[in-house]
Amino acid sequence: MKYRWQETISHRDHNADRDLTDPHEGLSPILLQLIRQEASSQRRVIEVGCGSGRLTFAIAPLFQEIIALDWSESALAEAQIATARHGMANVRFQLADAEQADYQAMAGGPIHLVVAHLCMSNAIIAQAARLDSETILAFAAFHTDQWRETGIISRFAYSKAAMEETLDSAGFYPCYLGLEKEIFHFPSPDVAAAYVERTSLQTKWRSSPRWSGFLKYVQEGGHSLTVRARVVVKARRQ
Ligand SMILES: C[S@@+](CC[C@H](N)C(=O)[O-])C[C@H]1O[C@@H](n2cnc3c(N)ncnc32)[C@H](O)[C@@H]1O
Repeated sequence: MKYRWQETISHRDHNADRDLTDPHEGLSPILLQLIRQEASSQRRVIEVGCGSGRLTFAIAPLFQEIIALDWSESALAEAQIATARHGMANVRFQLADAEQADYQAMAGGPIHLVVAHLCMSNAIIAQAARLDSETILAFAAFHTDQWRETGIISRFAYSKAAMEETLDSAGFYPCYLGLEKEIFHFPSPDVAAAYVERTSLQTKWRSSPRWSGFLKYVQEGGHSLTVRARVVVKARRQ
């Protein structure tokens, strides 16, 4: 690797009867910390792929304004309801394709930070690179080891090498590169399969070959699952 990565890999013996959490979706505490370092009531933030606004509401009190984009009308409808509940006046949700949108035109003023949580692509990084050279990028994205036991790699996932190459070619220099992984070890293949059946994972995997891929893995004696694998990045323009 060209850059230094901070790696946190946690292995956990999992008792499926006791704990049915699905940790792949939890907000990354390190990402929150990296964003918090930029906090200022004078600064405007673009968030891409905001979904129903989990990250948006966590960081809105830290900044002047958050312009949060998503291309899903239903996610934004949920976000709007939550905005009213949180009573936050400095958040603007917009329906847009983050790979195509002109962030500068949407913001209507200087953008200090582009952030994302589990929504990243080379095209989004290229869009951020079109902004003012002071703009900072901070995001968490899936790593290629996420649910690796299913045999399927998400097209949105990055390896460390692919992330370095994408940042380099867009003209971003990383000031933080992290790899966070959490691996559950089950007492037996049956307990591993039961865990997936009883969490929301089976619903997520039903529409893809992931579920059959995982069943094959447990039938062959596998009894682990990489429940969380992410790259966390903060980068400035070179
Ligand atoms: C895994 S969810 C993460 C949502 C939110 N950031 C969170 O962590 O709760 C990914 C989100 O990105 C959105 N998304 C994916 N590709 C997009 C694109 N090209 N433009 C805008 N939104 C996109 C999806 O609609 C979805 O809401």
